[in-house]
Amino acid sequence: MRILVCGGAGFIGSHFVKRQLAADEDVVVLDKLTYAGNPANLPDGTEFVEGDIAEASCLERVGTFDAIVNFAAETHVDRSILNPHEFIRTDVHGALVLAQAAEERGVRLLQVSTDEVYGDVEEGWSSREDDPIRPSNPYSASKTAGDLQVLASVRTYGLDACITRGSNTYGPNQYPEKLIPLFATNALDGASLPLYGDGRQVRDWLHVEDHCAGIELVLREGERGGVYNIGAGDGRENREVAQRIIDLTEADPSLLRHVQDRPGHDRRYSLDTTKLRGLGWAPRRTFEDGLAETVGWYRENRAWWEPLKSDEYRAYYEQQYASRLR
Ligand code: NAD
Ligand code: DAU
Repeated sequence: MRILVCGGAGFIGSHFVKRQLAADEDVVVLDKLTYAGNPANLPDGTEFVEGDIAEASCLERVGTFDAIVNFAAETHVDRSILNPHEFIRTDVHGALVLAQAAEERGVRLLQVSTDEVYGDVEEGWSSREDDPIRPSNPYSASKTAGDLQVLASVRTYGLDACITRGSNTYGPNQYPEKLIPLFATNALDGASLPLYGDGRQVRDWLHVEDHCAGIELVLREGERGGVYNIGAGDGRENREVAQRIIDLTEADPSLLRHVQDRPGHDRRYSLDTTKLRGLGWAPRRTFEDGLAETVGWYRENRAWWEPLKSDEYRAYYEQQYASRLR
């Protein structure tokens, strides 16, 4: 099977590409190479087309394919609060362009989505696939709209598509703006760890390899029009994650700083994964082992992340954190 992987130069997409190549699948990557896209994430020789999923014409340059897996998105909540417009272009319009392309070619589309579409959930509840969708921020609202375009194409045009909704994912090669790579790299550099609000928000951390295994299974065995949650079912408060990173890096605990909260901050995510487990999926990594391995990877791979903390990054960091850290 020749798989078109959109957003394959990013964090999760590049792990998915490596997984498919290791299984001798034929893969072509389409990626716009935004600040989050990094050719160094891909093995040498990976077939690559630079292009924007919101422009249908770039699919002509890809040749034929048997399926699309769409990881391409603007993905960072804090950036979406500063500037939501690019999120609409890629996460909504881009998803629609890919839905139309898949429908025209008669191939399956797997749209990679997020647990954030459900909004935050009360203690004692885990979101099911048919729960109401109640996104809280511009990023999750855009991902929700992308999901709805895909599902509308299934119903209206007979598109063959599935959607996965994954929880917070961590592992090597994650751009150092998200909680775990930001705190790990800051701790290794002796810089502050800016914990939003009281730090008691809960995220369900999923190792990137477990996320990719779920996506692969749904691509092959998911029902047409099906939505599948992917989560490890092991929620942790952010303050616990921060403390573990301090311990693993042997950083000075005073680096931890409680700072002004994120506007609209979702308090808790939790997924019911009964449906995916019914296809035979289960997470393989514990958070303890996965986090230790991930922090070890950042310790050993400064050459990967130091260049990313560049001028553009510093400008973003200043805009995002300067007033919070004062
Ligand atoms: P990422 O930010 O690391 O990478 C996104 C990739 O998409 C980059 O390579 C970027 O260059 C590319 N891209 C952006 N706009 C594009 C466009 N218009 N056309 C083509 N390529 C474009 O993202 P990630 O964290 O790997 O997330 C991948 C997907 O998984 C996203 O759809 C995200 O919503 C979803 N997701 C992420 C997480 C998480 O915790 N990271 C959890 C659940 C779901
Ligand atoms: O839940 C899945 C989602 O997880 C994905 O769809 C998104 O693409 C991904 O960015 C992630 O969203 P979050 O907002 O949950 O991830 P982030 O790493 O930005 O933040 C995780 C938690 O840590 C959240 O409660 C906010 C908090 N946080 C984050 C940063 C960057 C801090 O306390 N300080 C920080 O500096």
